[in-house]
Amino acid sequence: KSRWTTMKRILQFGVVGGIGYSGYVLWDARHPPLQAPFDPEKKTIVILGSGWGSTSLLKSIDTDLYNVVVVSPRNYFLFTPLLPSCTVGTVDIRSIVEPTRFVTRHKSREVKVYEAECTEIDPVSKTVTIADNSEIKGSVDTSKIPYDYLVIGVGATNQTFGIKGVQEHALFLKEVWDAQKIRTRLMDCIETAGFPEQAPEEIDRLLHMIVVGGGPTGVEYAAELHDFLVEDLTTWYPELAGKLKITLIEALPNVLPAFSKQLIDYTEASFKEQNITIHTKTMVKEVHDKDIVIQQADGTLAKMPYGLLVWATGNTSRPMVRNLMSKFPATQKVGRGLVVDDWMRMEGSDDIYAIGDASASKYAPTAQVASQQGKYLARLFSQLAFRDHLEQEIAAMTDEEEKQSKLRKLAKAKNIKPFHYSHQGSLAYIGSDKAIADLPWGSGNVASGGVATYVFWRSVYLSNLFSLRNRSLVATDWIKKNVLGRDISRE
Ligand code: FAD
Ligand code: NAI
Repeated sequence: KSRWTTMKRILQFGVVGGIGYSGYVLWDARHPPLQAPFDPEKKTIVILGSGWGSTSLLKSIDTDLYNVVVVSPRNYFLFTPLLPSCTVGTVDIRSIVEPTRFVTRHKSREVKVYEAECTEIDPVSKTVTIADNSEIKGSVDTSKIPYDYLVIGVGATNQTFGIKGVQEHALFLKEVWDAQKIRTRLMDCIETAGFPEQAPEEIDRLLHMIVVGGGPTGVEYAAELHDFLVEDLTTWYPELAGKLKITLIEALPNVLPAFSKQLIDYTEASFKEQNITIHTKTMVKEVHDKDIVIQQADGTLAKMPYGLLVWATGNTSRPMVRNLMSKFPATQKVGRGLVVDDWMRMEGSDDIYAIGDASASKYAPTAQVASQQGKYLARLFSQLAFRDHLEQEIAAMTDEEEKQSKLRKLAKAKNIKPFHYSHQGSLAYIGSDKAIADLPWGSGNVASGGVATYVFWRSVYLSNLFSLRNRSLVATDWIKKNVLGRDISRE
C-alpha cells in the first residue's frame, strides 16, 4: 500500500511539474525580457533572408558577441515541406509560418529586423542596399546598411529555362502567395467548368490540371490535388469530379530521380492506381494561356490543353545573387548559386558567407542542408569572435611568455572545423495516405513506402515544425480535415 502511495505521489508530482513547466514555457514565449541595445564596439552581421538557413542561424547565434541585422522581404519563416498541403486546404497557411520577431525578441541583444529586399551588395564599401517593396510607402524606401560579415540566405527562384510563356501563364509553388494563387485558380477552374451550357471540350480543358516537373515538389502537389479530388470534390461537385484529370510531366525517364529505384517504382505504380497520368521523357517546350506544347519521347510535338498549370522544375539563382556573381568573375562562374568553400565562405571574399539554396555546394538544395549550414555558421561566428578577442589580448601584451601561450591558443582558435552535413533521410507524400522514405542506415539505406511511412512522415514533420504554436495548429488542421473535410470556398 505504501509503495502505491509513493508511486501516486511521484505521478502527481510529475503531472503538476509538467503542467507548471509547460505554463512557464508558454508564458516565457509571450513575455520576452528586455534586450541589450546595439554595441558599437561589436562587429555587425547582416543576415539576408528569413528562410531555413537564415532562421536556423538566427536561432543559434550568440548576440552577446555581435550586433545582428536581418533583412527579408517577408517578415516570417515558412515551413516549406507542408506548403503543398496548403494548395488544397489540408493545412492552413497560418499554421506553417512563424514571425521572425518571435525568434529575434528572445535574443539577449536587440536584433534589427527590416522587411525589405536586398537589391545590391557592395563588397568594396561593405554595404547592402535594401528597398521597401511593400505597397505602403513612407518617406524613404531605400537605405544602405554597413556590415562586417554578410550572410546570404536568400534562397533561389523558380527555374523556367527561359521557356516561352511559363512566367506569364504557369503558377509556381515556393511561397505562401503561390499556394494561395493555386487554390484560387483551382476553384475558379471548377466553378467555370460548372457554368451553364459550358462547351464539353472547354469543361475537359478547365478540369485538366497539369504539373510540370516530377521532382518532390511536383509529386507532392499532384498527390495533394488527388486527395482533394477524391475526399472532397467528389462529394461537393459530383457532376464534375469524374471529369477532373491530373497529369504530371517529367523530362527524365522517371519521377523523383533522387530517390531509390524501388521507391520510384512504388510512386509511379501508386500514381497509376490514383489515376494520375505520368508522362516521362516528355519536355514542355512552350506554354500558351490555354495549352502547352510538349515534346514526347519519340520527338513529336503535341498540344495539351489545361485549366491549371503548376510549374515545378527546380531552382535557379536570384537576380541579386547573379549581380553579386558578376562582381567576382574569377571565382563565381556557377549559375545555380554562389560558390562557397567548406566554411560556407563565398569564394573570392573574406567576409561574405552563403548558405542554403543561394549557395552552390555539393549538397542538394534542401531545408535539411540549409538549416544545418545556418547552425554551423552560428558556431563559426562564435569562434571568429573568440579569435578576435585573443588577437586583441595579444596585441596589448608585453610579457613574452604569456604572449607565446596565447599565440598557441590563437592558432587553435583559427583552426575552425569545416561544415559537415549529416543526412537524416528523404521523405515525400505520394497521396492516399501513403508516403515514401529513404533513410540512412549504417553505411547503407532503408527504403520504405506506404501508410505506415505516412504516419512516420506526419510525426517527423510535426516534430520538426518551428514552434509549439505551429505544431498545435497543424495537428488541429489534420483533425479538422478528417472530421469536417476541406473548405472548398474560393478565396
Ligand atoms: P528559403 O527558405 O527559400 O528562404 C529564402 C529567404 O530569403 C526568404 O525569407 C525570402 O523571402 C528571402 N529573400 C528572397 N530574396 C531576398 C532578397 N533580395 N533580400 C533579402 N531576402 C530575400 N526540403 C527538405 O529538406 N524537405 C522537404 O520536405 C522540402 N519540401 C519542400 C516543399 C516545397 C513546396 C518547396 C518549394 C521546397 C521544399 N524543400 C524541402 C526545399 C527547401 O524548402 C529549401 O531547400 C529551403 O527553403 C532552402 O532554404 P533557404 O534558407 O536557402 O531559402
Ligand atoms: P527538382 O529539381 O528536384 O525537380 C525538377 C524536375 O523537373 C526534374 O526532375 C527535371 O527533370 C524536371 N524538368 C525540368 N525541366 C522540365 C521540362 N521542361 N519539362 C518537364 N520536366 C522538366 O525540383 P523541385 O521538386 O522543385 O525540388 C527542389 C529542391 O527542393 C530539391 O532539392 C528537392 O529535393 C527539394 N524538395 C524536397 C522535398 C522533400 O524532400 N519532400 C519536397 C520539395 C522539394
